[in-house]
Amino acid sequence: MKVLVIGSGGREHAIVWKLSQSRHVDKIYCARGNAGIAEIAECIDVDMSNFDALLDLVRYEWIDLTIVGPEDPLSRGIVDVFEKEGRRIIGPTKAAAQLESSKVFAKEFMKRHRIPTAEYKVFTSYLHAEDYVRMKGAPIVIKADGLAAGKGVIVASTVDEAIDALRLIMKDRAFGNAGNKVIVEECLKGEEASFMVFTDGRTIVPMASSQDHKRVFDNDKGPNTGGMGAYSPAPVITKELESVVMDTIMRPTIEGLRSEGIKYKGILYAGLMIDDGQPNVLEFNCRLGDPETQPVLLRLDTDLVDICMAIADEKLSDVNIEWKDEASVCVVLASGGYPGKYEKGKIISGLNDAKEMDDVVVFHAGTSFNNNEIVTNGGRVLGVTALGKGIKDAKERAYEAIKKIHFEGMHYRSDIADKALKYQ
Ligand code: AMP
Ligand code: GLY
Repeated sequence: MKVLVIGSGGREHAIVWKLSQSRHVDKIYCARGNAGIAEIAECIDVDMSNFDALLDLVRYEWIDLTIVGPEDPLSRGIVDVFEKEGRRIIGPTKAAAQLESSKVFAKEFMKRHRIPTAEYKVFTSYLHAEDYVRMKGAPIVIKADGLAAGKGVIVASTVDEAIDALRLIMKDRAFGNAGNKVIVEECLKGEEASFMVFTDGRTIVPMASSQDHKRVFDNDKGPNTGGMGAYSPAPVITKELESVVMDTIMRPTIEGLRSEGIKYKGILYAGLMIDDGQPNVLEFNCRLGDPETQPVLLRLDTDLVDICMAIADEKLSDVNIEWKDEASVCVVLASGGYPGKYEKGKIISGLNDAKEMDDVVVFHAGTSFNNNEIVTNGGRVLGVTALGKGIKDAKERAYEAIKKIHFEGMHYRSDIADKALKYQ
């Protein structure tokens, strides 16, 4: 079978890596891919927003299955376009992807279906929003309604900071139309975790739990990033809590959408804040998390194609999804300056030495080729991911592998997975 993966980051490298082990797969294509993906898939230079060109590729290469990595094509309806042409594709439709593409849609949906989330109010007028922020005081959270590449959420610790955020979104229109509506939300405390499920619209199967590290520096300091590292399993998600999340969040969400005429198929990701054993939804994503996918897929024992085919054919209840008992840790190596401005084109050395280590996989994110060399090509460059007997072992192995890798300006957090070690 031939499979197409859409995207070019670490998450997509992990998907391609897992597919390369499938007994069903003869060939993998990736649009557009990166230098690491190019080792195991044919990278195709087609923009992921060009649905016609992607459909042509699927037709001419006889591709049987397409898996979508990022939210952008999902929110613009790639699944609707492919399904209309009778092509098998994994991901939610445009209507279902609104859970991620519109935070106002997601909040109003959660309210209608009594899904636990922070209290909020929606504003289209800057002055009304400012009045409300002054009345509520800080800390308080300001969110742009639409997709803003992970930058549209500001957790303000003072009223001035919150008002600056409102100005940025509503007056300066830093995120364009994504800021037409703004959510002002109660600031929740607790520990965050990522909860992802596979679903065919009826059957919902939780993945191994994981936790991301959003801030750029150790001890959760500095600005938010796309994610500086992740590990699995996350001990904050106990078996009991997993049932609570399934019963109060995941099932009501998939069923609630169905009751409103929207079938949700693919992956649903809830970013949770857990306080005193009580989960609240911070956000929904309509796709796999990045970098959570890297450690999670390293632990997946089941053939990913079997899972995808079962989702497409709505037979997920027939598949037994199994996970390795070992733990995994992924540490992101980022370009100097990220998440702010950074340079590209820095030569990366030591990749082969790191790859030779047992139970280590170096997933590429922002990499490309320059002549015969692999160079940096993005903010998050690599996700060094290791499997170990427990979190401590996996963490040590990941950091051991990092010692072998170098590029100018490279920086990374040194405390990935320490939150899990507290539980031991
Ligand atoms: P989101 O894109 O909605 O997940 O927000 C990005 C990050 O902002 C989350 O991972 C949290 O760290 C933080 N955040 C979002 N909403 C809240 C909230 N209501 N209370 C506290 N932190 C939040
Ligand atoms: N790691 C967070 C995300 O994928 O949105």
